[in-house]
Amino acid sequence: MKLISGTANEPLARSIADVLDVPLTQVDIERFRDQEIFAKINENVRGEDIFLIQPTSAPANDHLMELLILIDALVRASAQRITAVVPYYGYARQDRKTGGRTPISAKLVANLIQKAGAHRVLTADLHAGQIQGFFDIPTDNLFGQPVFVDDIKDTFSKRDREKLLFVSPDTGGVVRTRAIAKQFDADIAIVDKRRPKAGESEVMNIIGDVAGRSCILYDDIIDSGGTLCNAAKALKDHGANSVSAYITHGVLSDPAVERINKSELTELVITDSIAQPDKVKKCDRIREVSIATLMGEAIRRIANDESVSKLFG
Ligand code: R5P
Repeated sequence: MKLISGTANEPLARSIADVLDVPLTQVDIERFRDQEIFAKINENVRGEDIFLIQPTSAPANDHLMELLILIDALVRASAQRITAVVPYYGYARQDRKTGGRTPISAKLVANLIQKAGAHRVLTADLHAGQIQGFFDIPTDNLFGQPVFVDDIKDTFSKRDREKLLFVSPDTGGVVRTRAIAKQFDADIAIVDKRRPKAGESEVMNIIGDVAGRSCILYDDIIDSGGTLCNAAKALKDHGANSVSAYITHGVLSDPAVERINKSELTELVITDSIAQPDKVKKCDRIREVSIATLMGEAIRRIANDESVSKLFG
């Protein structure tokens, strides 16, 4: 087995390498003056089982193109099997036609990854589980949930846990929220969110009784922070004791950090599926937990042809 990292999230790739005790294979990734990407793999990979780690986070198009170019280099270097390890799958929110003459970009990205020559995909918390079906190659979609469950048990005392209420910040996340609530035998509430226009969110209603509860907002993506911060305010306005958030992918486009700093949130916990800039690392209200062990274990199991379903619980 060989592990290769693109430039999108080298800290996570190094942590996965540590978990597996396998060194990262050296690659050179360069830019021509016109910003074309060039990649060279500096070791023999003929006949190898390759795990290529590259989330397609911002700048999404550059990181996606780098992933495709690295896959192409591996195919031409006679790698036996290539698994695209994409901890955050960019474009996932474009998973259906939202109007006439619009694309399904999540499907296009799946086509590109397959066409480049990947044999498998390993990803985490896809925005919609159905995106797995956009691939005609085996696709494992891990969940950040077990990592978050451990963290919640460490963070909230047993007494506080009795007051826990898991909240989905929109109707699309109800299944995900119900699944984590089940781990704590806790109730859920739902925020009825509307998007008057792209990039803006508005809370219409809260379904469920949140008064006096320790609310945990649970979602797959925080992007501009509008959804989350508006939901936190609405929960507080309805009498919640405290509001924290656990969100797998910290996309955190501007002005997310500023919004979080001014929000009603006690804490936002994200995973390291996306490498974060200093601005995020320095924010006292944002904490990162690692999915390296989860991803590393999935890679080990795939390499050894063992079941990965044990990791989904
Ligand atoms: C949407 O369905 C997603 O699950 C997130 O709630 C959304 O992408 C968050 O976006 P923002 O932080 O910009 O409101």
